[in-house]
Amino acid sequence: MQLGVCYYPEQWPESMWADDARRMVELGITHVRIAEFAWSRMEPRAGAYDWSWLDRAVSTLADAGLKIVLGTPTASPPKWLVDAMPDILPVRADGTTWHYGSRRHYDMSSEAYRREGLRIVEAMAARYGAHPNVIAWQTDNELGCHDTVPSYSPAARARFQGWLAARYETVEQLNERWGNVFWSMEYPSFETIELPHLTPTDANPVHLLDFRRFMSDEVASFHREQVDVLRRYAPHADMLHNFMGFFTTFDHYRFAANGSIDVATWDSYPIARTEVIALSEDDKARYARTGHPDVSAFDHDRYRAIGNGRFWVMEQEAGPVNWAPWNPVPAPGMVRLWAYEALAHGAELVSYFRWRQAPFAQEQLHSGLNLPDNTLSPGGREVARAAREIAQSDTLAKLKQGGAGSRAPVALVFDYETQWIFEIQRHARAFDYQTLAFEYYRTLREMALNVDIVSADADLSGYALVVVPSLARLPAGFVQKMAASNAQWLIGPRTGSKTEDFAIPPELPPGALQSLLPAKVIEVDSLRPTLQPATTFDGVEGIALHWREHLEARDGVEVLARFDDGWPAVIAKDHVRYAAAWFDAPLHRALVEHAARAAGLTVARLAEGLRVRRHGDVTFAFNFGPQSVDAPAPADARFVLGERTLGTADVCAWLAA
Ligand code: GAL
Repeated sequence: MQLGVCYYPEQWPESMWADDARRMVELGITHVRIAEFAWSRMEPRAGAYDWSWLDRAVSTLADAGLKIVLGTPTASPPKWLVDAMPDILPVRADGTTWHYGSRRHYDMSSEAYRREGLRIVEAMAARYGAHPNVIAWQTDNELGCHDTVPSYSPAARARFQGWLAARYETVEQLNERWGNVFWSMEYPSFETIELPHLTPTDANPVHLLDFRRFMSDEVASFHREQVDVLRRYAPHADMLHNFMGFFTTFDHYRFAANGSIDVATWDSYPIARTEVIALSEDDKARYARTGHPDVSAFDHDRYRAIGNGRFWVMEQEAGPVNWAPWNPVPAPGMVRLWAYEALAHGAELVSYFRWRQAPFAQEQLHSGLNLPDNTLSPGGREVARAAREIAQSDTLAKLKQGGAGSRAPVALVFDYETQWIFEIQRHARAFDYQTLAFEYYRTLREMALNVDIVSADADLSGYALVVVPSLARLPAGFVQKMAASNAQWLIGPRTGSKTEDFAIPPELPPGALQSLLPAKVIEVDSLRPTLQPATTFDGVEGIALHWREHLEARDGVEVLARFDDGWPAVIAKDHVRYAAAWFDAPLHRALVEHAARAAGLTVARLAEGLRVRRHGDVTFAFNFGPQSVDAPAPADARFVLGERTLGTADVCAWLAA
């Protein structure tokens, strides 16, 4: 694994650049990402390019031996462009327009903006595409950040209408499949179709779903158009985009398909992420200075799949950040720990945000590897230590090449459309699919299991256990894949509950899954917090939260547990188990353990806050908890990093004897 950093030469006096580059190399950094917000300096006035400063910045970094990732600057259109083309500003759901003055103030559906974007991308690619040190290109920056995917502009409406016409061919088909007879929602033509917003009550859910599918495709094509230009000038460079943690607004599998990226890169801010996701207040308090133990791992494992085995961390938190409701300083050791965590999950590169904290503008309270006075920050010192340790260890250096190490025994199916479907129709306020998926992931990790997060379309052969937290719509061939599989399957609630057109399937949920598991959902029970159906599974007592289903089981289906009022809680047939509810943590654990044992896996029960991950023949252990713990290494383990007893924020790694 190699180390990188995000650097903004345009924000610092040129007299500092050479020394910055030298100190980067001295620290063990090999890669530097630049330029992704610098449009106003590349083209200060329409058509008047100024590459001189960027030429000098690129040469200075290259002369120091650094490899360069160039970012295209489309995340921040300059003022002259916005003034010349005010229609490129995005329109929000409430009909108001976003203003100039920060970043991401553009409408992805604006054809004028796409043209302007491709113009600056092509000019940049022509200038730097053949530079030997420019080894990768990042398009834009965090597409969709700050809730900027949806735009309700006239441009978006026109393109949405075209997208619908291509999908449904005739408006009669669309009316039929959308069920528009309901409430007189029938459209006379594609040109009259509205965007689904500003309606007195809910818009038609399939209208909302198609709009989300359309927007997801808009994001992918916005990126793809840039990549097609970049590849013409930089055929040997890696193409990438920096994705975000816990971000589901577009379908990342579709985004990455057909060679649109070579590496999946993502931006990892574990402490801030822990603050903003749906975790209990107890978890947030316990992990306030370490980040939740599964929060980065979840996205490492997800982006490894999206990059087809290749992933980088493009921006790694190196100290306190500025954008969560609270932004505590990480516990000493965490910045070093996160580097090893990425390594253990197969990252090829971890790149820090940012080289130096900026004393001006929006991110002045965001740390970097250096303080504004140009001395190393506490995080910077930890990165220096990790860099030295990795360089000095033959075993760790061998892991540098990245990759998963090997296929995990467990696959967890993660599906973006399921997230959208349940967001559109939550039915129970706290039902959030990604949170449910995270609950299962966390439960598996508490048992010391390696997990691959995969798409429903992935090849699932070779896994011992496949966990499907939910899959709203069963893709063609999925049930056949299950039928042919030797794995144990654990399926969560709401699976098979919708058709492609957001309708209840004719045979009732779980739809086509009934061919393997003859049972149907006849009612769904949305549980306010005071409603707590109880059950006992495998000797463990617990309750359903948020959601449970009233299942009617037929021929040969075994009811493994019932709720206190008699409804089945867990059913099974052959190698398939189905959970009829969102369970509390003890029950989830019991259920996952039961399935893992049936799959022949050895399950451990790790101390709270302790996590392990195997990479090839090296096993890493990480302590996110407040107490010292012993890593679960065999007595004769040979430690290649640290030692068995781990204090808070400490890490060790060993080779199996
Ligand atoms: C990311 C973004 C960076 C920077 C960083 C601060 O979302 O890509 O440009 O703003 O957050 O944490």
